[in-house]
Amino acid sequence: MKTIDEIIQQQQILTSSQHVIISLIQQLDKEETTLETLAHQIGNDPALSARLLKLANSSFFGMSSKVASIQSAILVLGMSTVKKLAISISLSQQAKDQKDLMHFWKDNLMIAYCAEWLAEKTGCQKEISFVAGLLHDVGTLVLFTEFPDQFVSLVHEECHGPGILAKEQSFFGFDHTELGSQLALNWHFPEPIIQAIKSHHVGEAATIGPVAGVVFCAEELVGYYTCPTAAETFSPIDQLPGDLIRFLGLDQEKMANWKNQLEVISHQVDAILME
Ligand SMILES: [Fe+2]
Ligand SMILES: [Fe+2]
Repeated sequence: MKTIDEIIQQQQILTSSQHVIISLIQQLDKEETTLETLAHQIGNDPALSARLLKLANSSFFGMSSKVASIQSAILVLGMSTVKKLAISISLSQQAKDQKDLMHFWKDNLMIAYCAEWLAEKTGCQKEISFVAGLLHDVGTLVLFTEFPDQFVSLVHEECHGPGILAKEQSFFGFDHTELGSQLALNWHFPEPIIQAIKSHHVGEAATIGPVAGVVFCAEELVGYYTCPTAAETFSPIDQLPGDLIRFLGLDQEKMANWKNQLEVISHQVDAILME
């Protein structure tokens, strides 16, 4: 069985083909990227550019005229949307290559958009929350690709409960939050993203920052949304940890349309995964 250091050294999930994405994420907490730099960075990856333009021209965005270049996609959709689409498309490519991972990426894309929505409600950094939501379980993805058979049987009944960390610890000697946060540290990702990957199973306001807090809530909301019988009676303000709700400044009014919002998000994610 490989150690955590061996896995990190050999890790190719983001490092080989996704330089563009790594540098986009690294720059999220730096000063504003210019339109030209962003267009240039994305343009360096022809496959990514092609998929992005296809998505920008899809019925989902309902453009009246054709978007023919990354520059015009940025002008029409905005820098932030193009950045998020580039990151989403590039990372979820795996879902197309490996059908087993479709569910993983669909869930994580939904968590990303939901974290961004919650970030807007709570005054937290939106782009950082989006990426933190998308990558919070990157450690799980790595465990799955490194140890497919063991991992599937290990998490068979319990995917997200607190018990999963203890199971991983006893089986691998480390868990997915530890592995994921070390990888994010190696990739020089912004600190709040590393923190969210590390503490997304801890729903305690005192020990986590706002980005990890919105990722925690987003994961819960998506979990309930995707289970219609549970969603019927779920009330986020009453059932999410009270001190976390207060820490983030969420209330009944802000959360009133959570199901409608997740419905919109679900269509958006389908559009991304279909392109
Ligand atoms: Fe998760
Ligand atoms: Fe997790």
